[in-house]
Amino acid sequence: LKDVNSSPQTTGNIVLVGADELRTACSKAFQCAGTPKRDADLAAESLVDSNLRGIDTHGVIRLAKYVRGLKKGTINPRPKVKVTHSALATIQIDGDNGLGSVVASRAMRELIRLCKRTGVAAVGIHSSNHYGTVSYYLLKAAAQGLIGIGFVHGESLQAPFGGTEPFFGTNPLAFVFPAPGTPIVVDFATSATTFGRIMQARALERSLPEGTALDKQGNATTDPSQAVRILPAAGHKGYGLALAVEVFSAILNGCPFGPHVPPVFRDDIEEPGRLGHFFLAIDPRFFCGIDPFSAGIGRMVRELHESKPAPGFETVMVPGEPENRTYTERIRLGIPLSPDLWDTIQRLACT
Ligand SMILES: NC(=O)c1ccc[n+]([C@@H]2O[C@H](COP(=O)([O-])OP(=O)(O)OC[C@H]3O[C@@H](n4cnc5c(N)ncnc54)[C@H](O)[C@@H]3O)[C@@H](O)[C@H]2O)c1
Repeated sequence: LKDVNSSPQTTGNIVLVGADELRTACSKAFQCAGTPKRDADLAAESLVDSNLRGIDTHGVIRLAKYVRGLKKGTINPRPKVKVTHSALATIQIDGDNGLGSVVASRAMRELIRLCKRTGVAAVGIHSSNHYGTVSYYLLKAAAQGLIGIGFVHGESLQAPFGGTEPFFGTNPLAFVFPAPGTPIVVDFATSATTFGRIMQARALERSLPEGTALDKQGNATTDPSQAVRILPAAGHKGYGLALAVEVFSAILNGCPFGPHVPPVFRDDIEEPGRLGHFFLAIDPRFFCGIDPFSAGIGRMVRELHESKPAPGFETVMVPGEPENRTYTERIRLGIPLSPDLWDTIQRLACT
């Protein structure tokens, strides 16, 4: 593969598209659906960043669904995102049913500003929509030397431990720690798999790992075309974490929880998602101080890297490293997309 240049390259059955070109196309697609350019650029940036970090399940593959929501009016293309309440260290934000990435980006800007004054600050958001990966927003805090913690709920897909009916969403949680070099990024769903991975397995006609999904009748399945419910990660542990994420994201913000969340990804649904998000930021300067914190994190990372790898592993990695490696590679080579997906994006971009 050659370094990516200004025009996409086709290699076998994938197209390698440069990040700038993909961002421009996605932004145009959002603008064609009525989103102002500034917000369209923000939303495009969050999608392309996921692909750059190798999280393809939450990248540009989601564009068509967002655009459909904007055109149908289930997502507001011109939201008036506003701070409805703020106190010493807390902010409450009304997302006015805007694109989740637009609402969450605004919330994170407010949070960073407040946390630098207070040392610890939290923002709760209501009336928002799906926003992609949690760490995308927390990385903005880490870039300012802050620790970021985030939770988000979603439409009901995950069966509780011991149950068969969907209740919670895949409810990811994330922790991002500023570190010498690149931040540490812990970011995953509390479920055994995600809907994005099921969609990917369907497209690639691959089976799902055992113990991750249930069919319509509540029976275990590895067939992605039958998988409609997802099991918690690590049994009761993932279940407990999914519940905690639901409380922070939904209940604390006065949003519908679990099975009451409108299933926005179904084509026949006409009502807004009304999702909640929660972010917490912590400034290490208010605790041990930035230098000891940095030194401690640096030492921990070094010692983890030096620890002996298990058979089959080249090295022990720190969370965030796999995505950093992919980022470096994709900035150089381009983002691999199926030709169908690239065609769809260009069509949505009205080009
Ligand atoms: N918005 C939503 O509703 C929603 C729902 C579910 C998931 N998501 C997002 O989807 C993304 C993927 O979720 P997932 O559950 O598939 O994540 P995953 O199972 O791929 O785990 C990813 C995490 O594990 C770390 N990791 C992976 N391999 C590692 C290794 N060898 N050593 C050390 N760390 C390693 C990664 O750095 C990352 O922190 C997340 O960014 C999440 O926020 C969003």
